[in-house]
Amino acid sequence: MGQSITVENLQAWYGEQLTLREISMDVDANQVTAIIGPSGCGKSTFIRCLNRLHETIPQGKVRGRVRLGTEDLYAMDPVDVRRVVGMVFQKPNPFPTMSIYENVAIGLKLGGIRNKSELLDRVEQSLRMAALWDEVKDRLHKPAVALSGGQQQRLCIARALAVEPEVLLMDEPASALDPVSTLRVEELVLQLKERYTILIVTHNMQQAARIADKTAFFLNGELIEYGDTTTMFTKPADKRTEDYITGRFG
Ligand SMILES: Nc1ncnc2c1ncn2[C@@H]1O[C@H](COP(=O)(O)OP(=O)(O)OP(=O)(O)O)[C@@H](O)[C@H]1O
Ligand SMILES: [Mg+2]
Repeated sequence: MGQSITVENLQAWYGEQLTLREISMDVDANQVTAIIGPSGCGKSTFIRCLNRLHETIPQGKVRGRVRLGTEDLYAMDPVDVRRVVGMVFQKPNPFPTMSIYENVAIGLKLGGIRNKSELLDRVEQSLRMAALWDEVKDRLHKPAVALSGGQQQRLCIARALAVEPEVLLMDEPASALDPVSTLRVEELVLQLKERYTILIVTHNMQQAARIADKTAFFLNGELIEYGDTTTMFTKPADKRTEDYITGRFG
């Protein structure tokens, strides 16, 4: 099952530059939450704070609190955090020297699973969840980089799911994909929310409207408005949200 995430007064810096300003928001378990806002407003920085990646960036600094369920995420071992909070990036990034199978199995092997048939079962399950199994079941040992971009992105989703996370962070996962692959990823997100809590960064308003239960609008490192997606797109409370979603800036 998915976990809720509670963010309190989160601030993030790159060196002296304060990039996230006192963000507080509650992310519901087993829901899709979209993060929108103009380029440079801090969307990627925000989701990187939710799996402890921001602090790995040189000069990256974080203050404030993040809870995963009831646990303090910043008191956990970062390696455990990244197992529980999976991430899919904008550009599909399969491990280039590995096969399709190896890309999905690697996290399981690192987690200590050695049994061949168990590994194969878990790889199959993950590829099925990512709606990729039928397309690759006959070529599992071929290089992952021989897949199309859309297939590579679903492979990265399968890789993230293999280790059974509770939260899935997706940073513009469909922006490099064609419309058909984009729709497949969107359908997948809607299916996955039964089992996971999903945060998705997107520049595509229609996409947010189609898949997100709640939407958060960021501007210059601040959370301007956060709420039910339908309400936000039909009756935004803040003039800046309205300007953004109607395309008047950004
Ligand atoms: N590694 C970094 N080092 C220094 N500054 C950074 C770094 N990454 C991002 N920033 C700065 O932090 C701010 C927020 O960047 P971030 O990548 O979070 O924005 P974003 O909302 O994801 O934008 P986009 O929609 O273009 O992906 C920007 O001003 C950016 O220049
Ligand atoms: Mg970004």
